[in-house]
Amino acid sequence: MASNPAVWWQSAVVYQIYPRSFRDASGDGIGDLAGIISRLDYLQRLGVDVLWLSPTFPSPQDDAGYDISDYTDIDPVFGTLADFDRLLAEAHRRGMKLVLDLVVNHTSDEHPWFQQSRRGKDDPKREWYWWRGPRAGMAAGAPGAEPTNWGSAFSGSAWELDEASGEYYLHLFSRKQPDLNWENPQVREAVYAMMRWWLDRGVDGFRMDVINMISKDPRLPDGPVHGGGYGDGSAHYICGPRIHEFLQEMHQRVFAGRDAQLLTVGEMPGVTVEQARLFTDPDRHEVDMVFQFEHVQLDQGIDKFHPTGFSLLDLKASLGRWQAGLAEVGWNSLYWNNHDQPRVVSRFGDDSDQYRALSATMLGTVLHLHRGTPYVYQGEELGMTNAVFAGISDFRDIESLNYYAAALAATGSDQPMPGDPLADRTTAAEAASAGAGGGAGDAAAAEVLAALRRMSRDNARTPMQWTAGRNAGFSSGEPWIGVNPNHRTINAEAELADPDSVFHHYRKLIALRHDHPIVAVGDFGMLLPQDEQVYAFTRRLDSECWLVLGNFSGAEATATVPDAPGWAAAQLLLGNYPAVPDATSLVLRPWECRIYRRTTAPD
Ligand code: GLC
Repeated sequence: MASNPAVWWQSAVVYQIYPRSFRDASGDGIGDLAGIISRLDYLQRLGVDVLWLSPTFPSPQDDAGYDISDYTDIDPVFGTLADFDRLLAEAHRRGMKLVLDLVVNHTSDEHPWFQQSRRGKDDPKREWYWWRGPRAGMAAGAPGAEPTNWGSAFSGSAWELDEASGEYYLHLFSRKQPDLNWENPQVREAVYAMMRWWLDRGVDGFRMDVINMISKDPRLPDGPVHGGGYGDGSAHYICGPRIHEFLQEMHQRVFAGRDAQLLTVGEMPGVTVEQARLFTDPDRHEVDMVFQFEHVQLDQGIDKFHPTGFSLLDLKASLGRWQAGLAEVGWNSLYWNNHDQPRVVSRFGDDSDQYRALSATMLGTVLHLHRGTPYVYQGEELGMTNAVFAGISDFRDIESLNYYAAALAATGSDQPMPGDPLADRTTAAEAASAGAGGGAGDAAAAEVLAALRRMSRDNARTPMQWTAGRNAGFSSGEPWIGVNPNHRTINAEAELADPDSVFHHYRKLIALRHDHPIVAVGDFGMLLPQDEQVYAFTRRLDSECWLVLGNFSGAEATATVPDAPGWAAAQLLLGNYPAVPDATSLVLRPWECRIYRRTTAPD
């Protein structure tokens, strides 16, 4: 094992900005680029190395900007290209890199490529998307006539009928997000040209949205149906037949030969450890690291809106397998949160007043001390919690709104509708107006709402809490989504002033990674896999060994690691309680974390 990180991003920490909700300088209630620029000093103080910006390109905002209608401009709601250049220069001036979100599994249906593609079967751009006629022997538009039985990620069929041509187009996400046909070399070249355009402008890499879905089995077979409804087509588009070829080609056409220090991270739902090792093997030239989903799906049943309990044993088994699987070849990315996940302190921690800060700092410590590159999602460094949603009208996310409408329709609680219950309202705005029918419908609606409150992506999307003041200091206007009322106590201003805050704990975690190569590249060794309360592991590099402990409970817990007395007497590098009363044992208080360090003389 080399003593020093071989690559810069092994000792880097990435911070994700969700621009809509970060800081609104213009006062229209939606965050913008000027707002981000005004907070760069804050990010520099936190110490992060890379900023990843969720999409700010022109978009109808059906899926909050992940539906792009122009890849080489900025949506006026966020600013201008000149603002972007200023943001890039100001970030670079502070020593931070800037990585963009690359959303090329699909475009918006308002992108000129798709507008042209839908003009007719003979249009030269027809083959840029996935068009298919109805199922053999069926009339277009008839129930079940879709070319495959696949469901979309946002409820309903993955196919939308184009009345004019009598053909359907594929959309794995909303009907306003048609999937690009990567089999077509012209599509690939257009994407690569766009990526080069941004790199030439100075950006430092890309986070690649659902990039393991770009290669589909062109035969488009039906998928298995699990318990009624639509089929699961994922076996035919998750890490499909040409995915490695496409990523290698992308590397060759976009990144190879550039001397800049770039970062590529592929978002890959459903990726396995074995596949991830291939994707991130440096010799294969595909991506630097991937976002895997296993650990954020452990607490869910048939889908994310049927949550199950959280099991620490499952979490350790899963993350431990990823650590082991990518130990020799490849690299992990480490995350609890992003714009698609509920807030971790409300999910795996305890967001009560008593334990919020302790559990948030414990969770951060355990994650950041794993081997891999950590990602901090805006507000995580403050211990921001899940939101308060009174009713369905408080939600904004298309996934939540469509799910609500579909779930109520399925229970028969909604207004009866012929055919596909979602056919008439699969845009966010339309679904928002759908409601329960009363009576039995109220009970069904209450159940669905309970699931949304726990798992909705909107939990992550409420405005960043800067101050205790009006709108949490996010905007002088009416925010596009409600501000969490707990901003009066949980906010950046208060945390910056408190040396024991979650913010300062995250700042120390980031500094540890910068200062100690062991955090970046030391060997990882899981301990106590069967302990129901304590997360424990070691890191080792040369003559140095660290022990990391996290109590995942509100009860006292003893860490029964090998040589506990030796560790208890070792140097305590960081903890989340003011002092450790007893240097002879490893009894952890509620949600306590500790990092110990020992050095032994080399032989
Ligand atoms: C990714 C994004 C998510 C988006 C989806 C479709 O999962 O993170 O926000 O809805 O892709 O683009």
